[in-house]
Amino acid sequence: MAKEIIVVHGNNTLTGTVEVAGAKNSALKLIAASILAQGECVLHNVPVISDIEVMSEVLEVLGATVHRGGEGDEHTLYVDTANIDSYETPYELVSKMRASISVLGPLIGRFGNAYVAMPGGCQIGARKIDMHLRGLESLGVEFSIDHGYLRAEAKNGLHGAHVVLDFPSVGATENLLMASVVAEGTTVIANAAREPEIMDLADMLNAMGANVKDAGSSIITVEGVEVSSLHPCEHRTVGDRIEAGTFLAGGALTGGPLTVKGIKPDYLRMAIAKLREMGCVVDEAPDSITVKRTEPLNPVEIQTLPHPGFPTDLQAQFMLLASCAKGMSVITENVFENRFMFAAELARMGADILIEDHHALVRGGRKLQGAPVSSTDLRAGATLVLAGIVAEGETRVHKINHIDRGYEDYVGKLRSLGADVSREFPYKNYRTSVRLRSEE
Ligand code: UD1
Repeated sequence: MAKEIIVVHGNNTLTGTVEVAGAKNSALKLIAASILAQGECVLHNVPVISDIEVMSEVLEVLGATVHRGGEGDEHTLYVDTANIDSYETPYELVSKMRASISVLGPLIGRFGNAYVAMPGGCQIGARKIDMHLRGLESLGVEFSIDHGYLRAEAKNGLHGAHVVLDFPSVGATENLLMASVVAEGTTVIANAAREPEIMDLADMLNAMGANVKDAGSSIITVEGVEVSSLHPCEHRTVGDRIEAGTFLAGGALTGGPLTVKGIKPDYLRMAIAKLREMGCVVDEAPDSITVKRTEPLNPVEIQTLPHPGFPTDLQAQFMLLASCAKGMSVITENVFENRFMFAAELARMGADILIEDHHALVRGGRKLQGAPVSSTDLRAGATLVLAGIVAEGETRVHKINHIDRGYEDYVGKLRSLGADVSREFPYKNYRTSVRLRSEE
């Protein structure tokens, strides 16, 4: 059966207020962290997106029970890990979602063992896990490869260590945190990732009885506790800064004013600075951000970097803005080696982008035209829908399963801001005409 697509009618604007969901990249790791304590953790502000369903399945395969609250409470996830009796995460799930690898740290922490399918590369790059493994090895874990699976064993228990990461990897920092909270003695993670999602994870671990200090800085210190002393907790997921940045880009693109609620401006410092450089007026409140623009967009120079640098997850959205700016912009991707596939899709809509290695030269000022396009990843998909909103005519965005992975009710939220956008099945007319002919 044909898969749904998103159909957008352009020459439109986005105005009004939208509330962001809880952060996908945080909630996934909070669910994994709940493995560490026996019993039921209650997680609030968990987005209703398909990646969360996959992570819930990962935990269910381990023996946990996971369910959402009823009507009015859908954003609360109840994760009961009391009956986990397996430490194997199958290929079918890891290949669906790389973030499944974040069960490695907590499984080792709770059982001293893990058997997890090796994640492969993905469209945006090789995405290795060598730093996860080297870090965990220094805590006393031994790894072997077993027919595509990673076997991890901490035969003599986990012990604290001083780990220096080659690069402030989000995933490696998280796996190390979740194992080191129950390692004997002190662990120092230097060159740690500083993303708000790391702070969120540390807050939850501390609420479970762990002792993590200075999460959010480059040097995190963990004093290990007994795994039996960790207990389930209740925790609220931090707001999704990438969803917020996506809507702000939409406001900047069409003029706004557009307000996103449920997000601290401090988590989007660099994106806000770039919006201002591009000629937008950005107003900040403690829990919301408003963008508006009356003048044409200025060109910009952007380099993606680990937080607090410019997030790679907002690169596509700002490439779209650059395509509509007056002049030449330069965007440099430093985090993932192959994250410019989106440029080819935007070019189908009339953008003029030259890719040279990990730099994109974007010649702005083109009027975009609606076109059939495909999501190459979830951020690219969300951005193609935004592009359709300013383009002339109709845009049909395919492979929207990517968008569903990370954006809760994207179409509904855009409609509430005035967009003419809907989910449809393609070939509607084609199928009707085939049926009519066969009925004749
Ligand atoms: C997380 C986010 C992703 C975001 C990224 C960077 C989730 C589910 N995903 O991904 O949305 O774009 O952070 O902010 O939270 N690397 C290695 N070896 C390792 C680990 C990483 O070489 O052991 C490389 C990766 O290939 C990549 C870079 O380091 O080039 C960054 O990766 P990392 O920060 O770990 O990103 P993820 O945790 O995979």
